[in-house]
Amino acid sequence: MFFTTGGGDAVESAWKLAKQYFTLTGKPAEHKVISRAVAYHGTPHGALSLTGLPGLKEPFEPLVPSAFRVPNTNIYRAPEHGDDPEAFGRWAADRIGEAIEFEGPDTVAAVFLEPVQNAGGCFPPPPGYFQRVREICDRHDVLLVSDEVICAFGRLGTMFGAQRFGCTPDIIAFAKGVTSGYSPLGGMLVADRLFEPFRHGTAMFAHGHTFGGHPVSAAVALANLDLFEREDLLGHVMRNRDAFRATLERLRDLPIVGDVRGDGYFYGIEMVKDRDTRETFTEEESERLLRGFLDKALYEAGLYCRADDRGDPVVQLAPPLTCDQAHFDEIEQILRAVLAEAWARL
Ligand SMILES: Cc1ncc(COP(=O)(O)O)c(C=O)c1O
Repeated sequence: MFFTTGGGDAVESAWKLAKQYFTLTGKPAEHKVISRAVAYHGTPHGALSLTGLPGLKEPFEPLVPSAFRVPNTNIYRAPEHGDDPEAFGRWAADRIGEAIEFEGPDTVAAVFLEPVQNAGGCFPPPPGYFQRVREICDRHDVLLVSDEVICAFGRLGTMFGAQRFGCTPDIIAFAKGVTSGYSPLGGMLVADRLFEPFRHGTAMFAHGHTFGGHPVSAAVALANLDLFEREDLLGHVMRNRDAFRATLERLRDLPIVGDVRGDGYFYGIEMVKDRDTRETFTEEESERLLRGFLDKALYEAGLYCRADDRGDPVVQLAPPLTCDQAHFDEIEQILRAVLAEAWARL
């Protein structure tokens, strides 16, 4: 376990640790990283280099070289196999294998993935995707880093997001949920084998933050984790996640709702101009829809959520882990009224 103060620092730390691990184990050329299109990994130079959002990066170029992008798991806009989740999962995972082989397996240190990708609007992994990525990483001796700044600590009903999909990564980067947001803390969990080369001799991970693992935040995190146990929050999310999905699925009868996707207590609703053709909005329409109307209307109606168009326009929901059917109904009713009005205004 290594503590930082936030998520981007945790991602940054994971890349640096991967590089040093390979240097210490006799593979100093393994330094490149692979991440996915539209994914957001944070603001420090390394984390921003991993980020797949060109507009966010542009003012700070040139960034860290040797970060490469592959397609994400947005099956709603899949270029191939859009009607076959398993085939799409194989296709998407194989793009990672292809990138590693193209760059040269002896030069690639790590693959960075979120269990459910936030930016773009909650893309869950298709069935088998994570297992196949794990196999590809193992085959090439590349580390698998799960960026769980959002997905760890119950968001998907499991303590860690990768667990939800039956996968064991080499490093988990975490932040927000470790304190339920009540105090700033982030960090990374590292597989024992990555610690091995640091265990002996004089090698150290020469990396840290002034307030990394701050005692007040650490105390808040421990108290928070006690509450997870006492209130069985993971069990609560597991028992209620299908109901959350089913309640949000009701919104599919609205003409503006193109897709409802996500997992656990983490969902995105993609808005479209035409449900049949999946046509999305122009930049100007999206600006008018999101900043001109939805942000304010949802907030004023009492629903605190994110209307985002870093990918195609979406409303994203990450309700408190204590929510139940009464809250889901309220969320659905507010969304129904506000989205219907948004459609009427178009
Ligand atoms: C998946 C993911 N990674 C990294 C970050 C960066 O975290 P921070 O803003 O705490 O640096 C975020 C922030 O939202 C995130 O969602």
